[in-house]
Amino acid sequence: MLRRALYRQVKVSAPASTANLGPGFDVFGLALDAYSDEVELVLDSSSDGSNTTNTGSLTIEVGGSSMSTEHIPDAVEHNSAGLALLSMMNAYNIRDRIRVRINKGIPAGYGLGSSAASAVAAVKALDAMYGLGLDDLTLLRHAAQGEIASAGTVHYDNVAASLLGGFVIVRQEPLYAVKVEPPDDLLLCVATPKVDVPKGKTGVARSVLPDKVQLRQMVSNVANASMLVAGFLMKDTRLIADAMMRDVIVEPARMHLIPAYASVKRAALDAGALAVTISGAGPSILIIADARSGDIKDVVEAVDDAYSREGIDCYVKACKVADGASIHR
Ligand code: HSE
Repeated sequence: MLRRALYRQVKVSAPASTANLGPGFDVFGLALDAYSDEVELVLDSSSDGSNTTNTGSLTIEVGGSSMSTEHIPDAVEHNSAGLALLSMMNAYNIRDRIRVRINKGIPAGYGLGSSAASAVAAVKALDAMYGLGLDDLTLLRHAAQGEIASAGTVHYDNVAASLLGGFVIVRQEPLYAVKVEPPDDLLLCVATPKVDVPKGKTGVARSVLPDKVQLRQMVSNVANASMLVAGFLMKDTRLIADAMMRDVIVEPARMHLIPAYASVKRAALDAGALAVTISGAGPSILIIADARSGDIKDVVEAVDDAYSREGIDCYVKACKVADGASIHR
């Protein structure tokens, strides 16, 4: 049965996100209100869903700030929103011609879930446009297909955070996601160095990870990932921060890829931050603090200064945990 659109135009915005949070590689995600992407789907006026010979097609237009758009392909098969939409259109027999306008606000390729946010906004918009009423796990499955465009493989941490908001724990096989509200006193800062990122950066950052880990490393990361979850459930920011700093597998393998990581981390901690880690596959950095640890503005300033000393321009933003993707009415 061919699907008919209920609406000719739907716009959805989806927040940035940070993945891993130290020991939770590919499992933890946190939605950030620092940046967001908007995706608007517009049904082509010549397309009314009644043409059974029409195989359906997408046209993608990308706009937004230069740091957000310079790496974004508009070819459907190379664009995260395009791949996610194709996956859904095939699954639900949608054959209309649809224009996809992506307004990028999230720096792309910098470890802030940019590809995930566009994919999430796109699948949520298509769901609304056709009144499919899909559940969150089904939307996640389709959105995660978009990650193939940037990472070369599917991972669910960023898409889950961007769709659901808050702190998320996601299991890939069988797919399941749990959302936990963060503690009220959790303060965040994301620092993004303005450096060139290689094409397919996430794939590169994944290629430096070890294929095998020692049992004691696995035990340590499971313990700290569990502590981090306990920290969110108990609303204990100090426990979250302590656990976030203790990844013994991914951070050590990737830190050489992150410009000025050691000195920026030191500067943030000296200025009162409780924890610093690589945001997703980098090169952005996630910093957490709480009200007791001092003014987050001091951390922002110290991080900014540390990058300047290294001769690197950067964006440093204090931010909060975001709600999930939302439809613009
Ligand atoms: N968990 C993924 C990684 C996130 O670290 O490779 C990439 O955005």
